[in-house]
Amino acid sequence: MRLTVNRTPYDVDVEPEMPLLWVLRDELGLTGTKYGCGIAQCGACTVHMDGMAVRSCQIPAEAADGAEIVTIEGLGTPEALHAVQQAWIEHQVAQCGYCQSGQIMQAASLLDMNPDPSDEEIDRVMSGNLCRCGTYPRIRAAVKTAGAKMRGA
Ligand code: FES
Ligand code: FES
Repeated sequence: MRLTVNRTPYDVDVEPEMPLLWVLRDELGLTGTKYGCGIAQCGACTVHMDGMAVRSCQIPAEAADGAEIVTIEGLGTPEALHAVQQAWIEHQVAQCGYCQSGQIMQAASLLDMNPDPSDEEIDRVMSGNLCRCGTYPRIRAAVKTAGAKMRGA
């Protein structure tokens, strides 16, 4: 299969049913994307595929053939963080951190679709990404900060 990950093209030789999560982690060494449940329930494996947030544990490699993928490693750069990453630092969102790359990718996708979400919308979307440390109040605050920055407010 051929796919573009973080703006770099790759040819990878894998079984068609191999989950995209393992293509990213085991074939490309991009271990920022985490394995939580493997059954689309937790969101730890969230990446962007053709601009949409998807759960990479549920995407077979053959479905990602030709797609543009962005992972946490490619959302911003150390010199130019994405607004969500910057807000996550400002609000010190992470606790253990395990769920956080998925949270950040989900939040970036939410703000791409609506840079001014209500508290209810933030809670509805972000509660689908499980955080056992209970960082949801800081996630909500950081999403609002990032949205304001993206709107230039
Ligand atoms: S590991 Fe993919 S949703 Fe949990
Ligand atoms: S920060 Fe620990 S699970 Fe979310």
